[in-house]
Amino acid sequence: MAEAVIRIRGLRNQFGDQVVHDGLDLDVMRGEVLGLVGGSGSGKSVLMNTILGLNRPGAGTVELLGNDISEMGTDARTATQTRCGVLFQSGALFSSLTVAENVQVPMREHLRLSQDLMDELAALKIALVGLPPDAGRKRPAELSGGMKKRAGLARALSLDAEILFLDEPTAGLDPIGAAAFDDLIRDLRRSLGLSVMMITHDLDSLAAICDRIAVLVDKRVRVGTMADQMADPHPWIQAYFHGPRARAALAAAADGERAK
Ligand SMILES: Nc1ncnc2c1ncn2[C@@H]1O[C@H](COP(=O)(O)OP(=O)(O)OP(=O)(O)O)[C@@H](O)[C@H]1O
Ligand SMILES: [Mg+2]
Repeated sequence: MAEAVIRIRGLRNQFGDQVVHDGLDLDVMRGEVLGLVGGSGSGKSVLMNTILGLNRPGAGTVELLGNDISEMGTDARTATQTRCGVLFQSGALFSSLTVAENVQVPMREHLRLSQDLMDELAALKIALVGLPPDAGRKRPAELSGGMKKRAGLARALSLDAEILFLDEPTAGLDPIGAAAFDDLIRDLRRSLGLSVMMITHDLDSLAAICDRIAVLVDKRVRVGTMADQMADPHPWIQAYFHGPRARAALAAAADGERAK
């Protein structure tokens, strides 16, 4: 049985009198791709930020790679965070830096390497995410949306992450670009042995690459396979997985299973 790289118990998050999470439990297992879906404002990004120690939970425990994030000192937290790669919802590359310089930001922060070595490493990461070699010299404004996502991914993988967090990685991409990004995530998971937590609204992505799906409803998550979710009678889950877009995604799921 695989170990949990993320273990959440009894999580509560609240902003003013708005309760976002209440009694939320979730395990993410080593090596799996877990998709996280839920309505806009249901608390997906807050959940990700809480796991990363960027949002202090009101109650409950969050273990990341075996360590309780609330009990860790600054050094231990930083060390754990360096084992996590994050592609935030906003993407947020530094616009004044080249792609290679963006990829080197986490290296500068956490490692002591010569510039030559960082240049070599950045070139490797840039190749890893399927960008052409000359992309390293470009600034984000010179890249397409899909290339920006890949550059963000190269930066997320800058420090050899074990867990990859993706917040809506295919939002804004055309269907072909989104499918190519899904393929890339699936290949990287396999070749780098990553565990992946991916927030998405994209049924196609869920069907194509996720081993399990967590649905955030009623301030908690319900976790299961696509088939489990299809059978869940909760009204939001029914509407989402049986809506007009679900049929095409299901056909893709069958293809995805074959490709996995
Ligand atoms: N720092 C904050 N202060 C106050 N309220 C917040 C804060 N962060 C998030 N919220 C609120 O918590 C709720 C959940 O926000 P969150 O960003 O997690 O939603 P989401 O599920 O990621 O939505 P989307 O799909 O639109 O990205 C929202 O109502 C949001 O306004
Ligand atoms: Mg969000």
